[in-house]
Amino acid sequence: MAAVTSASVLSTLLLLCISPVFAFVVQNITARPGENVSLPCLAHKNSPIIVIGWHRRDLETGYVFLYRDGQSDPDVEHPSYINRVELKDKQMKDGDISLILKNVTNSDTGTYECHVIQGETDQGKTNETICIINLRVFKPVQNITARPGENVSLSCSVHKNSPILVIEWRRRFQNISDVVSVYRDGQSDPEQQHPFYIDGVEQKDKQMKDGDVSLILKNLEIQDTGTYECRVIQRGRDQGKRTETNCIINLMVFQPGGDEKNGGDGGHRVGLKLGLSVVALLVGVGVLLVL
Ligand SMILES: *[C@@H]1O[C@H](CO)[C@@H](O)[C@H](O)[C@H]1NC(C)=O
Ligand SMILES: *[C@@H]1O[C@H](CO)[C@@H](O)[C@H](O)[C@H]1NC(C)=O
Ligand SMILES: *[C@@H]1O[C@H](CO)[C@@H](O)[C@H](O)[C@H]1NC(C)=O
Ligand SMILES: *[C@@H]1O[C@H](CO)[C@@H](O)[C@H](O)[C@H]1NC(C)=O
Ligand SMILES: *[C@@H]1O[C@H](CO)[C@@H](O)[C@H](O)[C@H]1NC(C)=O
Ligand SMILES: *[C@@H]1O[C@H](CO)[C@@H](O)[C@H](O)[C@H]1NC(C)=O
Ligand SMILES: *[C@@H]1O[C@H](CO)[C@@H](O)[C@H](O)[C@H]1NC(C)=O
Repeated sequence: MAAVTSASVLSTLLLLCISPVFAFVVQNITARPGENVSLPCLAHKNSPIIVIGWHRRDLETGYVFLYRDGQSDPDVEHPSYINRVELKDKQMKDGDISLILKNVTNSDTGTYECHVIQGETDQGKTNETICIINLRVFKPVQNITARPGENVSLSCSVHKNSPILVIEWRRRFQNISDVVSVYRDGQSDPEQQHPFYIDGVEQKDKQMKDGDVSLILKNLEIQDTGTYECRVIQRGRDQGKRTETNCIINLMVFQPGGDEKNGGDGGHRVGLKLGLSVVALLVGVGVLLVL
């Protein structure tokens, strides 16, 4: 009997998704990684709650949180939310069905929707509420300092379980903006990349396991000083729905004892430039020899 009830309740939920007859509230919330955030939602005060379904629009499958038949149902939760979600008030006093999402990471960024059905179980006499919350979790800008010759990791992580379509790292310094690295269609795309970076960068984890899209910048030069930005596009739940994550890292490369203000003169890294001029020199010598 309970199974039948929840099945009909679930189909009501599905209906709700396409029914235009409801009011809803949209809220924007920002948080930092590691925080516990409350996704607020208020249902009607004096009406018994039949089902609460929290989901995230771009997740392929699974709920963020589902409450039915008087209890939460972790079996249908998306794996990344298991043990991280709970109702703010278990009693849901005054219709407070806000959800606490614990220890957020920037891969929790997304649009959350809560659908609530209330009322007596006979069909047709129900109150419906929808809350929509845009949650954006981002690290404050990271500042990194390093010395010439070192390797640094520019760290960035994204949603674990959504296929990665594009990763683009850019460096900005004053009026210059270079493409440091592009990954597209399952491989790096050197054609899009600024030639100065072709041999100087690599993906920290080639498999990008657990959504780790960090980039290693090798054999640093003073000229690598700048602001690095990472933009990632992942496939979402529905065709065409994508999510973006941005990481921003300020990198300052300087020689201790040297003049810090000289860190980055707005130029490019010179490794390859030198390489190229050596090649030019060799070609020149070759030409001379032939002559
Ligand atoms: C939420 O953010 C969007 C842009 O991201 C903005 O257009 C909208 O006005 C914001 N809504 C509220 C309630 O602040
Ligand atoms: C988040 O909540 C858990 C308990 O649910 C608590 O142990 C932890 O300290 C909280 N974290 C923050 C940053 O408040
Ligand atoms: C919070 O999440 C991070 C990364 O997902 C993890 O390393 C850390 O152990 C978690 N902290 C708690 C208190 O669960
Ligand atoms: C809907 O909520 C209102 C209070 O906000 C309540 O008076 C009414 O009885 C509810 N309707 C149902 C069908 O529960
Ligand atoms: C990074 O540096 C900027 C100024 O250069 C400063 O405003 C910001 O607070 C720093 N962030 C951290 C996390 O240290
Ligand atoms: C930087 O990484 C390269 C390999 O990618 C390694 O050969 C080199 O020793 C590293 N340099 C430092 C200073 O760790
Ligand atoms: C950037 O600005 C410098 C002067 O501040 C100028 O010489 C240079 O041409 C500019 N570069 C670009 C790409 O606009």
